[in-house]
Amino acid sequence: MFRLDNKIALVTGGGRGLGRAIALALAEAGAAVAVASRTREQLDEVAAEIRARGQRALAVQVDVSDSASVAQMVAATHGEFGQIDILVNSAGVGWAEKLVETSDGTWDWILKTNLSGTFYCCREVARVMIAQGRGSIINIASVAGVKGPPGLGAYAASKGGVIALTKVLALEIVRHNVRVNAIAPGYFRTDMNAAALDDPEIGPKIVKRIPMRRAGQPEEIGGLAVYLASDAASFVTGEIYFISGGEMAQ
Ligand SMILES: NC(=O)c1ccc[n+]([C@@H]2O[C@H](COP(=O)([O-])OP(=O)(O)OC[C@H]3O[C@@H](n4cnc5c(N)ncnc54)[C@H](OP(=O)(O)O)[C@@H]3O)[C@@H](O)[C@H]2O)c1
Repeated sequence: MFRLDNKIALVTGGGRGLGRAIALALAEAGAAVAVASRTREQLDEVAAEIRARGQRALAVQVDVSDSASVAQMVAATHGEFGQIDILVNSAGVGWAEKLVETSDGTWDWILKTNLSGTFYCCREVARVMIAQGRGSIINIASVAGVKGPPGLGAYAASKGGVIALTKVLALEIVRHNVRVNAIAPGYFRTDMNAAALDDPEIGPKIVKRIPMRRAGQPEEIGGLAVYLASDAASFVTGEIYFISGGEMAQ
């Protein structure tokens, strides 16, 4: 029930970090995978890794903050594979700044990428999935979306929005056999936070807040994404799954 054979997945932010790890996990479970982001070389590398696992792959350049670009990404994926069964919205950006110091430009950039980008991708792919009568959407939120982490205001607001959007969409399309869930990670070591984790001042403070006393490795998120994408999660929709090394239990 965890197999994804004959399923087609589209993973935004699939060029690196958590999106890449999820794309590879989905491929290992049997899915063909389209990976999408702005950096062509990274997409080509991940597509090659997916093909090395015996699955079909497609690399699609997209800027998720541009709804026209998102529409093209979905058309290209649907055109190549004829269906989209799984959407993972992992494209996102992080920025640390106190709210009172955050400029309009920074606020708009974070919200436009993380929240509007997730909305555009959900809207476009949900239309395909409704027409198909099946699908699973997985949004990558963050523990920041339910906590109040000082210095991460715009980011936390964008991820709180992703959590609300996930629940509403799940209920709006539940009768179309399309499930919508979110994974809310704690700290994982990726390009997004490697500098903070490696900082001699900030890094130890972050790790001290995590009961497991370490950041997650990207590979440790893949199994949860496979589960939510698969028939094993057939009764699961509108849920938020935390994966944080114990951080959310505190
Ligand atoms: N790492 C963590 O600890 C952590 C914790 C909680 C939540 N998250 C969330 O997990 C997701 C993945 O983060 P990550 O840690 O894997 O970061 P990452 O390594 O920086 O990867 C981010 C991905 O998003 C893509 N992206 C960014 N802006 C984009 C845009 N406008 N259009 C299309 N693609 C875009 C990037 O590709 P290009 O730059 O090439 O476009 C890249 O593939 C994000 O939503 C992040 O907020 C991460």
